[in-house]
Amino acid sequence: MSREFTKVGVVGLGTMGAGIVEVFARNAIDVLAVEVDERALERGKGFLTASLDRAVSRGKMAQDDADTLRGHVTFTTDLADCADCQLVVEAVPEHLDLKKRILSTLDGIVGSDAILATNTSSLPVTEIAVATADPKRVVGMHFFNPAPVLQFVEVIKTVITADDVFEDVKALAERLGKKPVVVGDRAGFIANALLFGYLNHAVSMFESKYATREDLDAAMRFGCGYPMGPLALLDLIGLDTAYEILDTMYKQGRDRLHAPSPIIKQMVSAGLTGRKSGHGFYTYAGPSSSQVVGDSATPAADAADAAGLRPIAKVGVVGSGTMAGGIVEVFAKAGYDVIYVARGEDKVAGVRAQIEKNNARAIDKGRMTAEDAEALLGRLSGSTSRDALAEVDIVVEAIAEDLAIKQDLFRDLDRVCKAGAILATTTSSLPIIDLAAVTERPADVVGMHFFNPAQVMKLVEVVHTVATAPDVTASVVALTRAVGKHPVQCGDRSGFIVNALLFPYLNDAIKMLEAHYASADDIDTAMKTGCGLPMGPFELLDVVGLDVSLAIQRELYLEFREPGFAPAPLLEQLVQAGYLGRKTKRGFRTYA
Ligand SMILES: NC(=O)c1ccc[n+]([C@@H]2O[C@H](COP(=O)([O-])OP(=O)(O)OC[C@H]3O[C@@H](n4cnc5c(N)ncnc54)[C@H](O)[C@@H]3O)[C@@H](O)[C@H]2O)c1
Repeated sequence: MSREFTKVGVVGLGTMGAGIVEVFARNAIDVLAVEVDERALERGKGFLTASLDRAVSRGKMAQDDADTLRGHVTFTTDLADCADCQLVVEAVPEHLDLKKRILSTLDGIVGSDAILATNTSSLPVTEIAVATADPKRVVGMHFFNPAPVLQFVEVIKTVITADDVFEDVKALAERLGKKPVVVGDRAGFIANALLFGYLNHAVSMFESKYATREDLDAAMRFGCGYPMGPLALLDLIGLDTAYEILDTMYKQGRDRLHAPSPIIKQMVSAGLTGRKSGHGFYTYAGPSSSQVVGDSATPAADAADAAGLRPIAKVGVVGSGTMAGGIVEVFAKAGYDVIYVARGEDKVAGVRAQIEKNNARAIDKGRMTAEDAEALLGRLSGSTSRDALAEVDIVVEAIAEDLAIKQDLFRDLDRVCKAGAILATTTSSLPIIDLAAVTERPADVVGMHFFNPAQVMKLVEVVHTVATAPDVTASVVALTRAVGKHPVQCGDRSGFIVNALLFPYLNDAIKMLEAHYASADDIDTAMKTGCGLPMGPFELLDVVGLDVSLAIQRELYLEFREPGFAPAPLLEQLVQAGYLGRKTKRGFRTYA
């Protein structure tokens, strides 16, 4: 017979605990909400009230329902009040000794059939369990932040947890409308084990001034469709909690990439713990506010001095593939005259035909007028000769991803293009300086990395080399804005921002699958419902192509020599077997 849960306890009403209280109360379960002292209890009440008021004011909850919900919650500072709870979930700070003490105390308070759960993100549940007299009834119940919103719950069973205990907790999580996955006791479980390597990597990019906080966050939002950028997410999680999670992961796995970036510890010591204190990577309107306010690091609205920009009216594009065609369309749509160069009349005609087709669809859907479509086509001219690029102000190339081929092109562009013209590449993996170096004008060479499909994706990485002139970078940033895209700036390193942050995380997911810790389905569920990512890692790998993913991962490994970036053997094997993802109908999954 499975357990009935009519009354549960939640200990610690901070970032997570207050949300967990709300989750239970929303489902008409009586909750005993416990804090360490009266002051903390008042703060915890405040979190719940603020969350309910927000839900009511946004029309997501009726006032009556909010009142009913509140009626299910009793506040106390006495753990002994948990005596008649069938389940108690602790959500106190991420410190092993504290959690052990709380659970062993609760063990002497609750009834013999009650379950004790820890919401730890990374600490060993087994070690917490054995601090109690009855470790069989101890389980991990790891909610995600914000608990009332995110559906994912990791149920952690240790080698000692009784089957009925984790099964009942899983069933309860389902009753709460969550998507629970049962996993073993490993630091970071599924979601954090994959998330925190990525977050730590973003912090190290910030710390080394590779890119600004705004650009790092915008890159992942606009380049990958993530709901939040990594630094904003760390502020939400809390830097103190993040530090403890990374530290535990590092101690368990000794993976250098999990060693907390030094700046995290410094920020915690300085009290810059994120939203909860009002200061983290960003500054907020006040403690626990989500509203970012300007500070000394906030970039000026338009930092570029227009007078210092190179005038751009006429744009050249080289190539006729998916990216080149998309880029031609983006510029022409934004009102620029575009001259594009392809390798044959058929390819020149192909680019135009594709744009005509896209226009027709836009007209059908009422998103474009026939006159605008006509005008757009009027701004286009195609050629098979690079000499046609003599008078353009900037050339963006999107030809084959091969260094020798691109270097030939850059030698040619250097010969053909007028003095002062900017030479841009949309390479995703080649060193841009190797293209600049074959020209007589390395200061005019820059990266302009569009994302696929270029017409849709808002992000453009503007990549400067050690030789790029500042006015060239500034002009390309301004041009990116002028075509309605979001520019982020970074240096000429393998993977730039997005791929360097994305692919090691995907590779980690493959290693987790390879280690049989969790299935591809569970890992995808974890990242989608626990972190709000638009796709799970295996879905995304199959879409991107396993061969492409392997090539990028190899480049990252070769450039940074990080052992942790070495491609997962399973990825190598799948590629060798010809299982490349959707395009071959088989990758991590099989497609019809
Ligand atoms: N922040 C996240 O995104 C997140 C997500 C999932 C899980 N977690 C985990 O949840 C737990 C809590 O993290 P948080 O971010 O909510 O921390 P927090 O610092 O925001 O809240 C912790 C709360 O526990 C209270 N507390 C401390 N000692 C106590 C005691 N002896 N008895 C009762 N209450 C006590 C504190 O007053 C505070 O309100 C940690 O184990 C963390 O790893 C955090």
